[in-house]
Amino acid sequence: MTTATHKSATKSEHDAYALLTQDHKKVKKLFGDFKKLSKSDASDEAKATLVGQICMELTIHAQIEEEIFYPAVRAAISDEDLMDEADVEHDGAKNLIAQLRGMRPGEDHYDAKVTVLGENIDHHVKEEEEKMFPKAKKAKVDTATLGKAMLKRKHELEKTEGAEPVKATKSSAR
Ligand SMILES: [Fe+2]
Repeated sequence: MTTATHKSATKSEHDAYALLTQDHKKVKKLFGDFKKLSKSDASDEAKATLVGQICMELTIHAQIEEEIFYPAVRAAISDEDLMDEADVEHDGAKNLIAQLRGMRPGEDHYDAKVTVLGENIDHHVKEEEEKMFPKAKKAKVDTATLGKAMLKRKHELEKTEGAEPVKATKSSAR
C-alpha cells in the first residue's frame, strides 16, 4: 500500500517555493522601507538598523539557496547557464552586503549601495520566480523535502547571524 501514509502535510510553509517566495516578499518590503527612510530625515541609527536587517535576511536566504536549493535544482534541470548566473548574482549581492556591513549611513555612496543591492535582488527574484521555479516544478523537484531542510537550516543560521546571543541548551552542568 502506498497511499495514505503521509500525515496531513498540506502545501505549507515547509515547501521550498513558499519559503523562498516569503523571503523575497519580506526583503522587498524592507528595501521599500529603506527608500522611505532615505527620503525622510531618518536618523543614521534607524537606517543602520534597517540595513543590518536587510543584510542578515539576504545572507541567510542566499546561504540556504546555495547549500540546499540550488544544488538540487541544478541536478534536476538542464540549464547550467541559469544556475551559473544565479551564482554570479549571489556573488554580486554578497559583495555589496560586505561593503555595507563595513560602512555607516552618511558615508559616501551608502544609500546608492543599498539601492543597487535592492535592484540586484529584484532581478534575482524575477529570475527565480519566473524562470528557475517553473523549471524546477516541471522537473518535479521534491520541494517539500527540500523546504523542510531549508527551514531547519534557516533557523540555525538565524541563531548565528541574528543579534540574539546563543543560549546554552538546558542546564548542561559545567
Ligand atoms: Fe531567492
